[in-house]
Amino acid sequence: MTPTGNSPKILVTGGAGFIGSHTVVSLVEAGFEPVIIDDFSNSERSALAGLRAILGRDVTCYAVDCNDAAAMDDIFQKETPLGVIHFAAYKAVGESVAKPLKYYRNNLDPLLLLLELMPKHNVKNLVFSSSCTVYGQPEELPVTEETPRLPAQSPYGNTKSIGEDILRDAVRAQIPVKVMALRYFNPIGAHPSAQIGELPLGVPANLVPFITQTAAGIRSSLTVYGDDYNTPDGTCIRDYIDVMDLADAHVQALRKLNEDTTEASYDVINIGTGRGETVLSVIKTFEEATDVKVNYVIGPRRPGDVEQVYADVSKANNVLGWTARRSLAESLRDAWQWQQKISL
Ligand code: WQD
Repeated sequence: MTPTGNSPKILVTGGAGFIGSHTVVSLVEAGFEPVIIDDFSNSERSALAGLRAILGRDVTCYAVDCNDAAAMDDIFQKETPLGVIHFAAYKAVGESVAKPLKYYRNNLDPLLLLLELMPKHNVKNLVFSSSCTVYGQPEELPVTEETPRLPAQSPYGNTKSIGEDILRDAVRAQIPVKVMALRYFNPIGAHPSAQIGELPLGVPANLVPFITQTAAGIRSSLTVYGDDYNTPDGTCIRDYIDVMDLADAHVQALRKLNEDTTEASYDVINIGTGRGETVLSVIKTFEEATDVKVNYVIGPRRPGDVEQVYADVSKANNVLGWTARRSLAESLRDAWQWQQKISL
């Protein structure tokens, strides 16, 4: 897709990462011109080649720490974007417990900088990457946006809650930004071309990359963390959202913000499928979708895991006109295709 000279530019911080790179594809397909800002501390430059293979053209990328005020100011000056999608953040729950200051610094300072630079450059639209982790273990399910946030179980989760509070308070103080905080549930899958996907560094903490690495023989077996929960098969329930559906939700949020004529606004929206799946059902669906067996054992519960969380997505449907379209089987098949590609 060749950009027209006047395609509105969108700064995508963390745009070489898992969700960021898939959102870059959706932005181009929707007629926007993404501008990636990524310091590659938690992503790989190979994502840029993957994007070129999908899009048939290069995407502007600044290899910059989005906490670098001078560099970010120059980028705003040069690119004059219509909006910003802020993905850049560390997201390893376990690491955040061991290194909290690294997480507070990296996940919050760049957000504060954006809130200074956007008004300076008259950029009003901001989509913020938040997480269902702010809900902890909800009393009632499915969770709506009115479900109370619970104290974070990790510094990572706390940076998402604090980030939402910073944005809410900035808007209350009439800082001229319009903000949508998207609370992701569990992003999975990969672009169907297998040119981009999830690149977990080291041993994957998340379920689906561990499944695909086990299926590929990289891991000898998957440990299912507990089967004594109060769920149909005893394993935890999550809402697994396809990364391309998640990417499309960002484009819809941007469009909605751009239509909004108010000076300052703040809103939060759940982005999930609205369906809960147990760990064992994900494994079974993977095996059926790929015809590949997954070796697994049942192990002890993982500390910090909530028993079940899945989204009420009626607000995303009503406000964004968005709904998840891809099935769990499609997402797992795409994840497997991607795993086979990077295991070559
Ligand atoms: C899912 C389920 C595990 C690995 C985390 C973050 C959250 C968000 C998504 C960023 C759980 C089980 C997992 C394994 C297993 N990230 N599991 N064996 O913990 O729901 O959410 O990633 O925003 O903030 O907290 O995702 O994929 O780690 O676990 O049994 O080897 O799979 O117990 O029930 P989680 P997950």
